[in-house]
Amino acid sequence: MVKISPSLLASDFGNLRSEIKKLENAGAEWLHFDVMDGVFVPNITFGPALIKSVRQDTGLIFDVHLMIEKPEKKLEWFAKAGADIITVHYEACDNIKQTLQQIRRLGCRAGVSIKPATPLQVLEPLLEYIDVILIMTVEPGFGGQKFMEDKVYKIEQLKEMALPYPIEIEVDGGINAQTSGLCINAGADILVAGTAIFKDDNYQENIANLRKGEKQCNI
Ligand code: DX5
Ligand code: ZN
Repeated sequence: MVKISPSLLASDFGNLRSEIKKLENAGAEWLHFDVMDGVFVPNITFGPALIKSVRQDTGLIFDVHLMIEKPEKKLEWFAKAGADIITVHYEACDNIKQTLQQIRRLGCRAGVSIKPATPLQVLEPLLEYIDVILIMTVEPGFGGQKFMEDKVYKIEQLKEMALPYPIEIEVDGGINAQTSGLCINAGADILVAGTAIFKDDNYQENIANLRKGEKQCNI
């Protein structure tokens, strides 16, 4: 079954603790932390201190999506804060192979993300160093954007390309009950969603609808 990683970017930061409890009760498996530096992306969010402050509150998998330039310098901070998966952007790293190796050395699972315009093929020589690949279906930086349906082919191609490796495929951006089915059918293992989960108080129902992926042929 597909796993759901709610993006806390769309949550009520003032009540983060209770938001996390609600997500746990609603059946989420992972928690997606969008870290933005105002350089790699225009937006600024939060850093390792916030992640650390909620680590004791939950056993959910901490899925940390770093949208920061030169993440290699900051990996240790996020590992110490309690990240289980650290995902860096291919476009933001000076030496992606070394960065991925360093993430594993720190005891975390190594993730890499590519922006919508970055071809999948750049990851081909790196597959043995990767645990999770995060396909962006919006330009990174903000929640609430429209799903880029023309990027779904990347999920299918990646499924094929990553076949010999135990790599999980995660998709992020504009995922809702209308678009999730496309990602699931294409082979996604994990769906990230912000707006679609936090749009109202029914987190459990919203998460269940994502898993169902209904209206998949009807966008
Ligand atoms: C965008 C972030 C996403 C974002 C998803 O840069 O990486 O995780 O929060 O939000 P929605 O689901 O609203 O597109
Ligand atoms: Zn994200």
